[in-house]
Amino acid sequence: MKRITIAIDGYSSCGKSTMAKDLAKEIGYVYVDSGAMYRAVTLFAMREGLIRDGKIDEEALRKRLGDINISFKFNPTTQRPDTYLNGELVEEEIRSLPISSNVSPVAALPFVRKAMVEQQKKLGREGGIVMDGRDIGTTVFPNAELKIFVTASDEVRAQRRFDELKAKGDSCDFGEILRNVRERDYIDTHREASPLRKAADAVELDNSEMSIAEQKEWLLSQVKMRTGSL
Ligand code: CDP
Repeated sequence: MKRITIAIDGYSSCGKSTMAKDLAKEIGYVYVDSGAMYRAVTLFAMREGLIRDGKIDEEALRKRLGDINISFKFNPTTQRPDTYLNGELVEEEIRSLPISSNVSPVAALPFVRKAMVEQQKKLGREGGIVMDGRDIGTTVFPNAELKIFVTASDEVRAQRRFDELKAKGDSCDFGEILRNVRERDYIDTHREASPLRKAADAVELDNSEMSIAEQKEWLLSQVKMRTGSL
């Protein structure tokens, strides 16, 4: 069977990652969460004091970019890849609200994008990959055989993120999460460097009213159409 490249883009917290991870597992592809890479850069910058009160020291971050090594290792317990920053497991920490609050301005910096996109392209050289993010179908893999653009209402997305953080035992405020979701949408769609937008040849999926099972079935049918089989 032909091993294709699958690009999944969309707004924050619309369930892209869950969808992409499950699909990759189901069809035996590699899964890469490109957002985790921007989150790891943000964690590094915050720890090193390169972001203070939301202000990024861009020159310092540019100089330190070479000190940031991001890798993924498959976790057999969760059946999903974990993110490592310079060899340290940071999967939990990068999903916290302080990181979510600072990641979009970091991801808007052209030199950060250039470095991450280079790594993402390398990871996808062989095909057989599902990658999710904001610019995968437009910039990272413009020739991907299957591109999906996911949307859902902002309230639905904030509720999903709220439930996810609560399940992890994080104390969180729905209003704060909704504000964060809207703010990131705004920054992601308005930035100059590869803004979030639907690629002309992407299939749109509004999953506001869809269950995970329905979504999975829909996705598998899309893959089947592109590969001729599963
Ligand atoms: O999971 P969620 O949708 O909340 O976000 P994410 O996929 O973990 O991405 C976090 C942030 O990184 C996004 O809000 C974007 O600002 C940025 N990002 C990006 O600019 N380009 C990508 N390919 C992936 C993420």
